[in-house]
Amino acid sequence: MQLDRLLQKHGFGTRKGCRGLVRNERVTVNGEICTDPFAEFETSGLIFTVDDIVWPYAEFACLMLNKPSGYECSRKPLHHPSVLSLLPLPLRERGVQPIGRLDEDTTGLLLITDDGQLNHVLSSAKRKVPKVYLAMTKHAVEQDQIEQLLNGVLLNDEPEPIRAAACEIAGSHLLRLTVTEGKYHQVKRMVAAAGNRVEALQRESIGDLSLPGDLAPGDWRWLSAVDLKKLGYLL
Ligand code: URA
Repeated sequence: MQLDRLLQKHGFGTRKGCRGLVRNERVTVNGEICTDPFAEFETSGLIFTVDDIVWPYAEFACLMLNKPSGYECSRKPLHHPSVLSLLPLPLRERGVQPIGRLDEDTTGLLLITDDGQLNHVLSSAKRKVPKVYLAMTKHAVEQDQIEQLLNGVLLNDEPEPIRAAACEIAGSHLLRLTVTEGKYHQVKRMVAAAGNRVEALQRESIGDLSLPGDLAPGDWRWLSAVDLKKLGYLL
């Protein structure tokens, strides 16, 4: 791929702007400064830098973020900054979007991508991708609440009771539950319907992919091929 096109694809501005970056010696490819914006490169395994920041060639940007509280998942947030503001500008310029939404005060694993197919596969109601949440509750968790959540609770606007795919007591005021849908405020509404109240909520995993213990709130990383496999996306 031609270098100016490669840079444009990765969110570094217009084709003309990208040519300027290259001519001004701000770009290296596979460890060497390249000043020819029209130079052609094999993209597989290519690593480039712009102003000393390292980027892998990525046909699609697929990321995980440890979402902190106080950020909205919308591209046009109303009351709080967008989670996208936690990403470097070139990634935002690529047009990445969160896959599904977490509430402003929910923390934990959020996937972000510009790969429409990945977004579609993981958001599709039919695929019933399990999502595990840890909820801190206002009142002590009772076994009866677990039974209700497993048997199904009726939520406003839902014709059928919604069941947790799994649910367990994780502490006196902690509940771990798995849901396969992605309905609005689903976990908070389910726990309320079972007679308790969510005070804090964290998403721990999606499919077989868990939030890594060493990914600090607000930090992001690229999804690896192993991560994509854990999401059932790569075979
Ligand atoms: N369920 C909720 O209630 N809120 C979230 O952010 C995610 C799931």
